[in-house]
Amino acid sequence: MKAMGRARMMVHLICGVLAVFGVSVVVADDPYRFYTWTVTYGTIAPLGVPQQVILINGQFPGPKLEVVTNDNIVLDLINKLDQPFLLTWNGIKQRKNSWQDGVLGTNCPVPPNGNYTYNFQTKDQIGSFTYFPSTSFHKAAGGFGAINIYERPRIPIPFPDPDGDFTLLIGDWYRTSHKTLQKFLDSGRSLPFPDGVLINGQGHSTFSGDQGKTYMFRISNVGLSTSLNFRIQAHTMKLVEVEGSHTIQNEYDSVDVHVGQSVAVLVTLNQAPKDYYIVASTRFTKTVLTATATLHYTNSRTPVSRPLPVGPTYQIHWSMKQARTFRWNLTASAARPNPQGSFHYGKITPSRTIKLANSAALINGKRRFAVNGVTYINADTPLKLADYFNISGVFSLNSIQSIPSESTASIATSVMPASLHEFIEIVFQNNERTVQSWHLDGYDFWVVGNGFGQWTPASRKKYNLVDTLTRHTAQVYPNSWTTILVSLDNQGMWNLRSANWERQYLGQQFYLRVWNPVQSLANEYNAPSNVQLCGKAVRHHP
Ligand SMILES: *[C@@H]1O[C@H](CO)[C@@H](O)[C@H](O)[C@H]1NC(C)=O
Ligand SMILES: *[C@@H]1O[C@H](CO)[C@@H](O)[C@H](O)[C@H]1NC(C)=O
Ligand SMILES: *[C@@H]1O[C@H](CO)[C@@H](O)[C@H](O)[C@H]1NC(C)=O
Repeated sequence: MKAMGRARMMVHLICGVLAVFGVSVVVADDPYRFYTWTVTYGTIAPLGVPQQVILINGQFPGPKLEVVTNDNIVLDLINKLDQPFLLTWNGIKQRKNSWQDGVLGTNCPVPPNGNYTYNFQTKDQIGSFTYFPSTSFHKAAGGFGAINIYERPRIPIPFPDPDGDFTLLIGDWYRTSHKTLQKFLDSGRSLPFPDGVLINGQGHSTFSGDQGKTYMFRISNVGLSTSLNFRIQAHTMKLVEVEGSHTIQNEYDSVDVHVGQSVAVLVTLNQAPKDYYIVASTRFTKTVLTATATLHYTNSRTPVSRPLPVGPTYQIHWSMKQARTFRWNLTASAARPNPQGSFHYGKITPSRTIKLANSAALINGKRRFAVNGVTYINADTPLKLADYFNISGVFSLNSIQSIPSESTASIATSVMPASLHEFIEIVFQNNERTVQSWHLDGYDFWVVGNGFGQWTPASRKKYNLVDTLTRHTAQVYPNSWTTILVSLDNQGMWNLRSANWERQYLGQQFYLRVWNPVQSLANEYNAPSNVQLCGKAVRHHP
């Protein structure tokens, strides 16, 4: 597998632009890139047994989106499944544009044999991201892929251009079809333990590089529910990027990647010319599932040999400590030329604290999951469309409180109001025995602290208010808390959800409505001209 180098990437980009506009056109600042993606079922055997999976343009995982900061993406999604479908762009901020977020609170799903053209910009973003299906339980069948956003010319990145660039989508996997898994959940049963772990949709893949050279490995956990540890036999990894933040470049023997998260590391092939094991193994599970791939030196004649490098399995402290070493390089730039540290997040006093507690709940005798005592249920109409067309009766703004609830869980289409430009503190309080992974669409946020037990105002003394990084998905350890700070500068209807897909599906999510009473195109775009209408919105026209 040979990665696309940055130089080649730019050539592709420029050719693409010329092909679209013809040669007479002046190349615009922010180029357009056009895609047509057809979603179908297919049969493959990632764990040795043939099973139905979701393909995009015949591929599993789906095609890699390789773009540059500020590119305009025009992507026609054609749905050839037997069920309504949407893709969401995990970590793409959709600035002023929650219309394109691709979740059921913002978009009508694309019906079978229908299509929808997404139109969005990778505005001020750089780094390693993913996309995946947000509808039904499709994520369990594939339909996911990588989004790699490269720097614009002349924007310095804080490391030399690597000699190659590998993308590794790692995740737990079931041999059971997504429809059967969904039926388990609908009937109140929980998911069984996963059957395995995949790396790029396979039992075993090979990554080749030249001895002495340095390669980037972009690692994303695209699985349903299991945290993974990633490591490479006999090699250390230099962490350089986490979900769009450029980090202090520490060396690690292994890194934890929780569900929904992405990291990028540099690996120098500085060992004897041999083949080495790449390992992803499950964290915090009684049985440890392991997937391997091969790092092949092009001058190697020696196949891989065991033992596999050892990684942590149940050590929560280890993971917590490692998380605190993921820090911002304050002097490095990210997607923009100014240093990322010039935004002094630690000097801003949050306007309020939102405390969110996850819990298991029983509704009509069936297992659900709740946030602050409310288990989310999708409305027939996207919340964003209800707002836009002033349709009442779809959601209410007092459907979820900003502190944990002591009462029995209830079911609602929960939306929490927030004002544009608020700067807020969100405490995730996890009183359950499983690790949580929380994701916010439309934003990245500073993960300022974590700790065991109950968060109290005194916990703030432990915050990193200087150089923690921003990311879009934060883990919360068992019986622990994690605090994030968010600058609510992106108006829209944004999904705040568990990245653990069983929990998300069963209600551990809600929407944060970032709103300004004075409507202005400077803050938020109008509905796109091709907006799909459904539910109570079908009678309206944009
Ligand atoms: C996309 O859908 C429109 C109708 O909404 C249809 O006219 C068009 O042919 C479809 N395009 C493709 C490629 O299926
Ligand atoms: C931070 O980034 C700068 C480039 O702006 C780089 O020279 C420096 O080595 C980086 N520091 C660390 C500790 O990674
Ligand atoms: C919705 O209501 C707001 C104010 O209440 C108004 O400004 C806006 O034009 C209305 N939108 C539609 C589509 O009727």
